[in-house]
Amino acid sequence: MSKVLLVAAIGRGHALAKKFHQSGVEVYSLIPFANPGIISCSKEHHVVDITNAQTVAKHAERIDPDYVWVAGDESIAAGVADAVQEVGVPAIAPLKTVARLESDKAFAREFMKEYVGHACPRFECFTDAESAKNHIDVVPYDFVIKPMGLTGGKGVKVLGSQLKDREEAKAYAEEAIAADRIGGIVIEEKLEGEEFSLQCFVDGESFAAMPLCQDHKPAYDGDLGPMTGGMGTYTCEDGRLPFVSDEEYDAALNVVEKTVSGVKAKTGEAFKGVLYAQFMLTRNGPFVIEYNARLGDPEAMNVLPLMKTNFHDVCKAIVDVELERFKVEFEPQASVCKYVVPEGYPERKDQFEFSLDESKLSDVELFYSGVEQKNGKRFTTGSRGFGLTALGANVAEAYQKAENALSQLDLKGFRYRKDIASEASIAAKIQHMELIRGRPATVVPAPPASTIETV
Ligand code: AMP
Ligand code: GLY
Repeated sequence: MSKVLLVAAIGRGHALAKKFHQSGVEVYSLIPFANPGIISCSKEHHVVDITNAQTVAKHAERIDPDYVWVAGDESIAAGVADAVQEVGVPAIAPLKTVARLESDKAFAREFMKEYVGHACPRFECFTDAESAKNHIDVVPYDFVIKPMGLTGGKGVKVLGSQLKDREEAKAYAEEAIAADRIGGIVIEEKLEGEEFSLQCFVDGESFAAMPLCQDHKPAYDGDLGPMTGGMGTYTCEDGRLPFVSDEEYDAALNVVEKTVSGVKAKTGEAFKGVLYAQFMLTRNGPFVIEYNARLGDPEAMNVLPLMKTNFHDVCKAIVDVELERFKVEFEPQASVCKYVVPEGYPERKDQFEFSLDESKLSDVELFYSGVEQKNGKRFTTGSRGFGLTALGANVAEAYQKAENALSQLDLKGFRYRKDIASEASIAAKIQHMELIRGRPATVVPAPPASTIETV
């Protein structure tokens, strides 16, 4: 029987474990806490430090799986794929140097400038607080401040949203430089438009696109409040989003294609795993907000339940560099994933016990995320709690199924965003893009993808 060693933690990990299990693969998992969802799909699991590359490599050597799937950015940035490959086991995740596309925002922006310049906003990188503050005083456009290192999606602050004015921005620049793992920040042009996530399986040479998703990062309805890891996502039945045109979709694929070839040219290493390009669709076409070197969370909970092709076959095609001859198919259905989070998330970090009556859930998939099982009881970890995914003939149907399921649960101590994927919210996004497109274009959009055969 085929075996995977899955290095994972949160909801995305549960969705992966379930998909591997359904595809007839034996799941061996390494997890940082006892996630009941991942455990329920695993033949064997171990609670370990999943950012310790040598620990993971030792388990890989012992278990001798067909491949190791590394799900999270922290593990990938720590060089887990490198360590696993050193003991002769294929890794489905990029090597540490390649993963700088995600783990080092300054590197990523410089890379984009070089290889996909038309889709990269103006930016400057700073490791010195005084220079950053002087820049904030004079920069002629609205901007966003991003710590260079990984922050779990919570370090970005946008002028006019999380940052009230330039004085607040200067204070944050100083604080962020001091706290950042790399010791710096990127100050970049604030892009206006609608965001979308394009995730692709990549074997180093070719790639296969998954359905587009739209994530919602701010904590509260109406896109208000602090940034989170993502509060919910939806995918339409045609694998696209209603505000993205064919030309804009092709332009986004073109960015992925140039990124995959650019990585090899720049680092000498092939990108293997999942490349997730997060875009802002602007009046000048799609611009890259950031790259992720892994599946998104919650996006994984949208797309994996829709995947028709056997997942193990997809993984083998990635390992054997055969994606070019391989068709990855998805059900022509919509999916809506809602994250249920502790009240006060992301600021509140305390843990509390709760129980969830899973028998009340029908017609949805439940994915445990920041949930730890101890002595038969369940506790929150301080992060996002669990995701519920509903599929439907269209988004409206999937939304209703998700809402019906949520109404059956006792959500004391928790909350979620009701607006995500609602008819009104989607109509507002379409209208927003129409308004944005109504303005005169100043830059010619990227050329369409030319040689993409696997999508
Ligand atoms: P990131 O962690 O880079 O995905 O950023 C978190 C969120 O900040 C994104 O989902 C966007 O909503 C917002 N954001 C990041 N960069 C920009 C930008 N250049 N312009 C506008 N919003 C941005
Ligand atoms: N949902 C955004 C991310 O996974 O980074």
